Amino acid sequence: MIKIDFTGTKTLVTGGAGFIGANVVEAIVRAGGQVIVLDDLFTGDLKNIDPDVKYEFVKGSVADFQTVLKLMPQVDYVAHLAARNIIVSTKNPREDYETNIGGTLNILMAAKETKPKRIVYSSSASIYGNPRILPITEDETPLTFSPYSVSKLAGENYCYAFYETYYIPVTVVRYSNIYGPKQNPSNPYCGVISKFIDAIEQGQPPQVHGDGLQTRDFTYIEDAVTGTLSALLSPRADGLVFNLGSGVETSIMDLIRLLAELSGREVVPTHIDRRDIDNIRRRVLNIERIRTRLRWHPQVNLKEGLRRTLEWYHSKPQ
Ligand SMILES: NC(=O)c1ccc[n+]([C@@H]2O[C@H](COP(=O)([O-])OP(=O)(O)OC[C@H]3O[C@@H](n4cnc5c(N)ncnc54)[C@H](O)[C@@H]3O)[C@@H](O)[C@H]2O)c1
Repeated sequence: MIKIDFTGTKTLVTGGAGFIGANVVEAIVRAGGQVIVLDDLFTGDLKNIDPDVKYEFVKGSVADFQTVLKLMPQVDYVAHLAARNIIVSTKNPREDYETNIGGTLNILMAAKETKPKRIVYSSSASIYGNPRILPITEDETPLTFSPYSVSKLAGENYCYAFYETYYIPVTVVRYSNIYGPKQNPSNPYCGVISKFIDAIEQGQPPQVHGDGLQTRDFTYIEDAVTGTLSALLSPRADGLVFNLGSGVETSIMDLIRLLAELSGREVVPTHIDRRDIDNIRRRVLNIERIRTRLRWHPQVNLKEGLRRTLEWYHSKPQ
């Protein structure tokens, strides 16, 4: 693992009020750095960031070039996490296009002028669609099944183009199903684990779309944050794409069994129809590139991550 030290630096975290962003903001500040959060609070909430963590907040959209251009000269690093999520994107691909593609282009265009030390762009394992080979390597041919995966891949492609054409030091991380504290189950767009925990803790059956045999690679938030920050700090990351996952394949039914065990409850899920976004059958990432290149590896296995997430759920005001 590389040493995470942001002393004497300032980082722009777009989407810093969201689930992953808030965790990133806290980690950078605790590692000695200063942070500017740019967020339009579409799904984010400043309450996600611990009150003891000091940062500057700008309410605005990455889709607004003037806002981006004003902030970029002030920072050394950019963690670009702002995005419209898959659900809103499926309902309104144009809104997704404006933020996910337009906002990413704005960050890169501004970087051309201001030359930050490094930008990390958060992409998604959803760009793989239904892959041919598991575990999925970064070289797998993308298969974009949803407008969201189209926009996340387009953002990646702009990053490579700006790296090659203008020498902007930019790195892409492809996250897979991040879960953990600060993921808000009352946000209709949130991940499956926080929805299941919320249902189970309220004595309700978790709702499984389809047969529950679909698999995912669940990544604990703390691991996602250290992976993201390792990429942000490492010149060895420039111009590269990294899978950021656990490397472990888990079915939805196995996930429910683990949650039942940890919560000490009998859990019988309800099976409901697949949604139009549920077209990915299996997913598990090969994480050798980030292991060898950035010396990063996941520290928290699914059982421990779920235990910590349940602990957080019980500790927060309901
Ligand atoms: N959570 C996951 O499992 C996962 C998986 C793959 C990729 N990602 C990517 O990670 C990033 C963060 O995701 P998250 O799970 O924290 O989601 P989130 O919805 O909690 O956070 C996204 C944040 O971006 C903000 N935002 C949205 N549009 C904006 C705009 N136009 N301008 C400024 N801010 C805007 C939202 O208000 C929110 O605070 C996103 O880029 C997402 O595509 C997440």
